[in-house]
Amino acid sequence: MSLKLGVIGGGVMAEAIISCLIEKNIYSSSDIIISEPSVNRRQFWQEKYGVITTAENQQILDNSDVIILAVKPQILSTVISNLTLNSQEKKPLIISILAGVSLDKLAQGFAQFPLVRVMPNTPAIVGEAMTAITPNNLVSENQLNLTLSLFKAIGSVIEIPEYLMDAVTGLSGSGPAFVALMIEALADGGVASGLPRVIALELATQTVLGTAQLVKQKNLHPALLKDQVTSPGGTTIAGVAQLEKNGFRSAIISAVTAAYKRSQELG
Ligand SMILES: NC(=O)c1ccc[n+]([C@@H]2O[C@H](COP(=O)([O-])OP(=O)(O)OC[C@H]3O[C@@H](n4cnc5c(N)ncnc54)[C@H](OP(=O)(O)O)[C@@H]3O)[C@@H](O)[C@H]2O)c1
Repeated sequence: MSLKLGVIGGGVMAEAIISCLIEKNIYSSSDIIISEPSVNRRQFWQEKYGVITTAENQQILDNSDVIILAVKPQILSTVISNLTLNSQEKKPLIISILAGVSLDKLAQGFAQFPLVRVMPNTPAIVGEAMTAITPNNLVSENQLNLTLSLFKAIGSVIEIPEYLMDAVTGLSGSGPAFVALMIEALADGGVASGLPRVIALELATQTVLGTAQLVKQKNLHPALLKDQVTSPGGTTIAGVAQLEKNGFRSAIISAVTAAYKRSQELG
């Protein structure tokens, strides 16, 4: 890929994305420039990934065709106020991964720029993200396809209308924490039943991973999978009955809708 890729904010999510793009040969290190205030972090980027680094966000703006904006939402206005935004002949594509920051809000700073709002999630770190994207009306078809290909490198990607972003945040954004709790609880149940902790955690993790892959790869409705593994009077239906008694499904539904409402409030 010959277009220069810039990143403003070389933190955790930036590393998850860039490491996958380099590993999958979508961008070579020499075509990536990252701005980051911390000297140590810049050195880390240079040594581990061989990318170009800078402390000046303006350099990113002036030298990139595509820019991933990956700072914390609270410092967006500081970042924008320190940029000279009319110095470029051609406005680069800005891809924002900032949680809760709308296209309208981005356009207040990056006026007349092609903008894509993106919501990835933490499994990006292992190339298994679920990412939702919404472009504004200045994004060309090529730019949209480029954005899709970038985020396919870190997992699955889906294009959605922006009004669904808060719901996406509640489900796939917050979801890794809910699933992590479930893995922990499964392991605790195993320990309560006499399994050593290390074995219980391995069993719990692989069970969640394998079940998710089964549902996804076979396009199997979860209710059907549940029916397939619950034999009459058996062990699994005894466990399912306890989950229902304790409001397991309604607890998960409430967790997603609470996260959705909180995302609306924060936005
Ligand atoms: N983590 C997730 O699961 C997740 C999921 C979806 C979306 N997001 C979004 O991704 C964004 C980044 O999150 P993160 O977890 O990667 O945070 P992070 O690790 O804190 O990364 C932010 C980076 O920006 C740097 N930075 C601070 N001020 C800067 C400036 N003025 N110019 C350039 N860089 C600056 C920080 O450097 P210092 O540390 O030296 O200040 C840090 O390296 C957030 O907006 C978040 O909403 C995160």
